[in-house]
Amino acid sequence: MTPASPLGVFDSGVGGLTVISELMRQLPNEDVIYLADTARVPYGGRSPEEIIKINEEIIPFLIDQGAKLLIIACGTSSAIAYPLLKDKYKVRLIGMVEPGARAALAASRSGRVGLIATVGTVHSHAYQRALAALKKDVQVFAQPCPLFVPLVEGGFVAAEETRRVVKECLRPLIKEEIDTLLLGCTHYPHLFKLLQERVGSRVAIVDPAVEVVREVKQLLRQAGTLKDKSSRPDYKYLVTGSPVQFQDLGSRLLGRPITNARQVKIV
Ligand code: DGL
Repeated sequence: MTPASPLGVFDSGVGGLTVISELMRQLPNEDVIYLADTARVPYGGRSPEEIIKINEEIIPFLIDQGAKLLIIACGTSSAIAYPLLKDKYKVRLIGMVEPGARAALAASRSGRVGLIATVGTVHSHAYQRALAALKKDVQVFAQPCPLFVPLVEGGFVAAEETRRVVKECLRPLIKEEIDTLLLGCTHYPHLFKLLQERVGSRVAIVDPAVEVVREVKQLLRQAGTLKDKSSRPDYKYLVTGSPVQFQDLGSRLLGRPITNARQVKIV
């Protein structure tokens, strides 16, 4: 692995683009291979066995593509598969959970943290455990929001029906007077505007991607594998479903054109 090797990033669909966007901001020279497993989206309602199997297929695939480090840009995979697989491969894996928990606690003054994520992530208790490990008396109010991912994947990020779903989903957390809302699914930052509108400006919304990329930057620097500052980045987009659909929605959500998505078979 050399500084010129790409970072591998994956998710079930367009969720991980919220991590890509943060990579573009904090690590603008790095090459990236992004895999969107759109043939199998959503992951959120799948069994832990399925999530682990999917991760055991994708991780070696991205290692074979020459990735120097892998970001599991999927809350569900990070919560369920990462703890089991983190030491299995020769390439370093970074999950969303621990960095997300750190960022949420840094943002919270009252220690009343709302967590929204997929059903699988909430039921795994990975975020709840990570938060409690860092701050014993933290109070976590967790709420699965199973409709968010299909709404984002359908492109309904500003639609009136999405606003209604957001309102319903956040109602119990607002009642608990949280001061921080932790986005435990990488699709959810695409709904940032609607979420902020609903919780109000006094609640801090935490996207784990910011802390994840900060950690990645630090690791690359320590390992001497940061890419040269003068070089232009290359982004490769691989999808298991339709490239055209991914390009259309992905470009819209990322705010930059994606024109080179390619379909791949990983199993
Ligand atoms: N974006 C992923 C996550 O963070 C996957 C969501 C899904 O496919 O249900 O959990």
